[in-house]
Amino acid sequence: MQVIGSVEEMQKTSRALRAEGKRISLVPTMGYLHEGHLSLIRIARENSDAVIVSHYVNPAQFGPGEDFDSYPRDFNRDYELCEREAADIIFRPSSEGMYLPDHSVFVVEDSLSDLLEGAHRAGHFRGVLTIVAKLFNAALPDCAIFGSKDVQQLILIRRMVRDLNFPIEIISGPTVREHDGLALSSRNAYLSEKQRREALVLNRSLMRARELYDKGERDADVIRNTVHETLKEASGSELDYADVVDINSLRPVKHLDQPALVVLAVRFGNTRLIDNTVLAECNIEL
Ligand code: PAJ
Repeated sequence: MQVIGSVEEMQKTSRALRAEGKRISLVPTMGYLHEGHLSLIRIARENSDAVIVSHYVNPAQFGPGEDFDSYPRDFNRDYELCEREAADIIFRPSSEGMYLPDHSVFVVEDSLSDLLEGAHRAGHFRGVLTIVAKLFNAALPDCAIFGSKDVQQLILIRRMVRDLNFPIEIISGPTVREHDGLALSSRNAYLSEKQRREALVLNRSLMRARELYDKGERDADVIRNTVHETLKEASGSELDYADVVDINSLRPVKHLDQPALVVLAVRFGNTRLIDNTVLAECNIEL
């Protein structure tokens, strides 16, 4: 496995792979890899001949006061995990190599970015879309894999690819959970034992929402109320948002006659966790 540290070297390597007729996949990550990331690397393997895992904690997507400095980092461990999953290349650019001091061009999405996560993390998706566009231009992949755990991010990346004509197939991977239902996240490492127990309330409320939906409930307010009531079971948490939204517009829905998402963001002390589930009558590819 190769580790590449500069954009120029990455582009050169990808061009050479393409010249050999290889299909290239990219799995963008901020490192501190867990089974969720690894599941995406496996999907990448199945869909390509050469797998690039990018490893970069992107300062542009963290707001002031957010956890950029304390974001967990362990490159040696991540290297071992990528090697075990038979990734071909880790792209690990330096911060200076990614953003010049006078960097001034950003990718801004104008319709969905200020909702949900964007309403609580100003500028977050501007930072995400900009780095993902830069990673696409560095790795030159045929396909890129993203987790539906970060569903708004996934939807926005699909929108960017469509609207800016990136010739890249976006493939999504399902959310990987712990045995007790907690969605894996690098940020779970911040939770105290008590918070870790209380954090199960996210998945519990999604499961109750699904149960109601599967029994035929189509009034979104009934599901919303159940989710809110369930989230109150975690006494040490603070709610950022919990809503039932249309899968395309990400706006709140009243009646569940179209596919919808239940989306949650809950804070435990300084740790912010998000989760979601789809409510649809048939399987939906996110
Ligand atoms: P990061 O949080 O490291 O996540 C990298 C990828 O792993 C994302 O596509 C995310 O949706 C996916 N992922 C996270 N937890 C998962 C889980 N439990 N199951 C399945 N997939 C999961 O998301 C980012 O980094 C950044 O915003 C990035 C896209 C790399 C841009 O900086």
